[in-house]
Amino acid sequence: MTLAQTILTLLADGEFQSGPALGQATGCSRTAVWKAVQSLQNTGLEIYCVRGKGYRLAQPVELLNRDSILAALDIDTRQAVQQLDVYYEIDSTNARLLEVARQENTSGYVCIAECQHMGRGRRGRRWVSPLGGNLYLSLLWRFHAGATSLGGLSLAIAVAMVRALRDSGLVSAQLKWPNDILLDGHKLAGILLELSGESSGPCAVVVGVGLNIRTPVREMSAVDQPWTDLESALGKTVSRNELTASLLRHLVHAVTDFEQQGLIPFMDEWKQWDALAGHEIILDLPTGVVRGVARGVDENGALLLARNGELQRHHSGEVSVRLSANMESSGTYGAGQ
Ligand code: BTN
Repeated sequence: MTLAQTILTLLADGEFQSGPALGQATGCSRTAVWKAVQSLQNTGLEIYCVRGKGYRLAQPVELLNRDSILAALDIDTRQAVQQLDVYYEIDSTNARLLEVARQENTSGYVCIAECQHMGRGRRGRRWVSPLGGNLYLSLLWRFHAGATSLGGLSLAIAVAMVRALRDSGLVSAQLKWPNDILLDGHKLAGILLELSGESSGPCAVVVGVGLNIRTPVREMSAVDQPWTDLESALGKTVSRNELTASLLRHLVHAVTDFEQQGLIPFMDEWKQWDALAGHEIILDLPTGVVRGVARGVDENGALLLARNGELQRHHSGEVSVRLSANMESSGTYGAGQ
């Protein structure tokens, strides 16, 4: 554990801790403690420093805890989760599990982190991953069939995320093809699937999800896409460990169901929560831009676009849409979210 990490653990309950008390607990000088507090502040955490009282977090933080997450899992999910690694900091949970996939023949491997230095978003973009209360989670899963059978998996994962969000009390999240989770046109969560292995034989998929739960505003200044977070939407604090357990349950069910039945068990919910259906959209393709009206998705996860009197199927592309009079939501996010 780094000194900053130890100090965050000591401050997590939101109570004041004096400099000398922190120095004594960590065996470090007051200057070292002060520097570690500053480094935590630089990552986006709000920490009050009050003369004569010491340091206190603006809000208590529930740190991710492996035992709490495992204890909150139902039996089926507990059996499916072969390994659960919790990192304080990491480059990218997806990158870590791609490395595991290359080295071990394991499935059901989960990696979560308090913050990522090189969080990856779709299309090579960056996923801004500050410390302080979001969720960065990856699940490594092996599929018996090849990669060609996985069309639509990312949509199934998006539905699983909305199911978990609904369990947490958020009933108004919507889906934007192929797999963004939106709330009133603002991005709440993103999904990145990365494949390891051959396209024909069995393959390993790393399912990466980034969920904004309590997002430090300053850290997000680089993100030029409207975004929101779960705690603001719910108006209350969220237990990250319980939410992680619930999300894992839904993800494990989703990959299992998808492997057996494809996208069919997810279609009704996609239809219900589809943010694009009926909207005039712009689809940015490698060959140019096309406009049309979104008409849902097919069983392979393709976007259905009504255009020039015909229904076209698109398997890739970036969508922009005007969801309301003053809100432009685009798939092109600059810094990444
Ligand atoms: C998107 O661009 O919408 C997808 C973002 C996916 C971010 C998650 S955070 C956990 C996992 N690790 C990463 O590096 N990326 C994914």
